[in-house]
Amino acid sequence: MEKIVITGGEPLSGNITIGGSKNAVLPIMAACILTDEAVHLTNVPNLQDIQTMIKVLESLGVKADISNLSQNKLTVCYEDINKNIAEYDLVRKMRASVLILGPLLARKKEASVSLPGGCAIGARPIDMHIDALKKLGAEFVLDSGYVNCKAPKGLKGNKIDLKKISVGASENIIMAASLASGESEINNIAIEPEVIDLIKCLKSMGSEIDFIGDRKILIQGKENLRGTTHEVIPDRIEAGTYMIAGALIGNNLKIQNIEPDHMQNILNVFEELKIDFKLNKDSISISKSDIEVGVNLQTEEYPGFPTDLQAQIMVLLSKSKKNSSIIENIFENRFMHVPELNRMGTQISIEGNKSIISPSSELIGAPVMATDLRASVSLVLAGLISKGETIINRIYHIDRGYEEIEKKISQCGGNIKRIK
Ligand code: EPZ
Repeated sequence: MEKIVITGGEPLSGNITIGGSKNAVLPIMAACILTDEAVHLTNVPNLQDIQTMIKVLESLGVKADISNLSQNKLTVCYEDINKNIAEYDLVRKMRASVLILGPLLARKKEASVSLPGGCAIGARPIDMHIDALKKLGAEFVLDSGYVNCKAPKGLKGNKIDLKKISVGASENIIMAASLASGESEINNIAIEPEVIDLIKCLKSMGSEIDFIGDRKILIQGKENLRGTTHEVIPDRIEAGTYMIAGALIGNNLKIQNIEPDHMQNILNVFEELKIDFKLNKDSISISKSDIEVGVNLQTEEYPGFPTDLQAQIMVLLSKSKKNSSIIENIFENRFMHVPELNRMGTQISIEGNKSIISPSSELIGAPVMATDLRASVSLVLAGLISKGETIINRIYHIDRGYEEIEKKISQCGGNIKRIK
């Protein structure tokens, strides 16, 4: 099994270019089921999760042209082959496979998805996806671990109140309502930039979606949508991760191809911590900064501080001279990185969904185990500032969401390599 080996202490300088957003492109790929015409995507990150989504879509009849994926271009085109099942083997690899449910149901009047089990960060049920689709007229049966859904008379627009904010449930229902007959009013939707990017892409496919409140949209269902060309937004979580690397060990490290509007939540924290950064139109330069203060953070839905940067910011907060705390509000089990970080010398304790981060002296490299995508990358960040060697096992998690991580870091001076 491959491992990442880091010898810490080397300052990072030069440029890191951020790729397209993994969590934006996954639902947008699923949206290709809504049309017979080709959807051409640019700024697509070449990641393991994208390959998995291609496999899911291919199993349903989508033709994917991956010949230019190394140039971050992907074309997907749905051809109906009467296969409406997302199989367990694919869904268990990537929960985002459930995003085919809404579009497939809308298009084919039936769809089956293996029920994703729990995962390393929490139980992650899909009850809200199902409840919302029921409101559009779908019927659901759970059989042998699969959720089988049917809408024999087709989906019909309705008023839907999402009981809490969910990125995936919002995306599924927006896609389904785009092909339902009549109008849907959806309240309490997630407004993460990835959801907004999906809406932008759907609109360019002919969908009629209007915001009538901060978290309320009206959708006029259409009989058909058309193909489109869409440029995926930059990955704000990859950007935030490298920004934190810059604050930890940067020497004028420039992170480019970012969308500053999407980075406000982390920039607010950087300002509180008095991190040395200079923000430009689509890039930011950051240098290592001594941190004299602590902060009390909570993860929240966008525009709040993202749960997907919680593990990474924890490493930065451990370098402060004062205590900090983080309350994790989104996932119930997202502190799996804490014991691994503590093995390297951080002083972090957990009480329920709150972690207290106390000042730590120099971190010491160690063999550590990656548990999920963001937990893994927090270990990379810790390795970059540790004395000696850090060996990260189970790095397939990192490859799901960080394109060429060792190349991006090593070309800025970091001592990081992948070994077999
Ligand atoms: C998306 O997951 C992201 N994944 C996650 O990124 C991200 O952490 C999460 O949103 C929150 O921002 C993708 O976009 C592919 P949710 P999603 O539905 O859609 C509960 C990463 O590292 N919930 O917004 O699955 C749920 O358990 C990943 O890139 C229900 O109770 O997240 C959670 O507590 C990890 N019932 C909360 O809502 C439901 O039916 C928010 O989850 C759906 C969700």
